[in-house]
Amino acid sequence: MEIYKNIQEMKSYLKEMRKEGKKIGFVPTMGYLHEGHLSLIRRAAVENDLVVVSIFVNPRQFGPGEDFERYPRNIEQDIRLSQEAGANVLFIPGINEMYPEGFNTYVEVKQLTETLCGKSRPGHFLGVTTVVNKLFHIVNPDRAYFGQKDAQQVIVIQRMVKDLNMDVEVVVCPIVREADGLAMSSRNVYLNSEERGQAIVLFHALNMAKERIEQGERDAMRLKKQIEMMIQQQPLANIDYVSIVDGENLEEVKEINHKVLIALAVKFGTTRLIDNMIVEV
Ligand code: PAJ
Repeated sequence: MEIYKNIQEMKSYLKEMRKEGKKIGFVPTMGYLHEGHLSLIRRAAVENDLVVVSIFVNPRQFGPGEDFERYPRNIEQDIRLSQEAGANVLFIPGINEMYPEGFNTYVEVKQLTETLCGKSRPGHFLGVTTVVNKLFHIVNPDRAYFGQKDAQQVIVIQRMVKDLNMDVEVVVCPIVREADGLAMSSRNVYLNSEERGQAIVLFHALNMAKERIEQGERDAMRLKKQIEMMIQQQPLANIDYVSIVDGENLEEVKEINHKVLIALAVKFGTTRLIDNMIVEV
């Protein structure tokens, strides 16, 4: 496996690969890889000739007081896991490589970034779209793989790719969960055992909501209240938002009469967890 820290060196390597006609699949990550990330890498390995994985904890998508400094890192383990999953090239740039002095260009997707996580984490998506834009320019992939776990991120990136006429196919992969249903996340390591035990309520609440819709529930407000009540039964849960939105434009719905996205952000102690489910009626 090739490992690059330098942008120019990686660009010239990938240029050669492209000359040989190789299709490039790209999986951007912030590292501390788990089965969720690995499912993206495995899929990319099946669908492309060369798989590039980036590992970069992007400071610009963390707000002040968020967990940038303590975000979990384990590069040695990430190198081993990504290679086993089928990665051919790892890109691990330093902060100065990505944001040298004088850096001053941002890519912003409007509107779609003003709800859900964008509302709770101002500036977060500006950091995401800016870094993903840079990574797309550096790697120039044929396909890029993202997880449905970050539902809003997927929609925002798809918008950016469309709006800026980028030649990359965005491939969305399903949420990978622990055996009990908790969505895998690098941040799950922050949870103590009590918080970890209570956190499965997110998956249970989403399933309950899906069942209610299947049984004919159409009133989004009433369903939202039921989800909130179920989550609040866990004493350590602190709801950031529970939203039922249009699966395409992320606008809050009143009546559930088409494809909706049920999205949750809930804090357990200091750890903010997100989860979601798409329900079609
Ligand atoms: P990170 O949180 O490391 O996630 C990298 C990719 O893995 C994202 O596309 C995310 O949706 C996906 N992923 C995470 N947990 C998953 C799970 N349980 N099941 C399926 N996919 C999962 O998302 C980011 O990094 C950053 O914002 C990034 C796009 C790299 C830009 O910095």
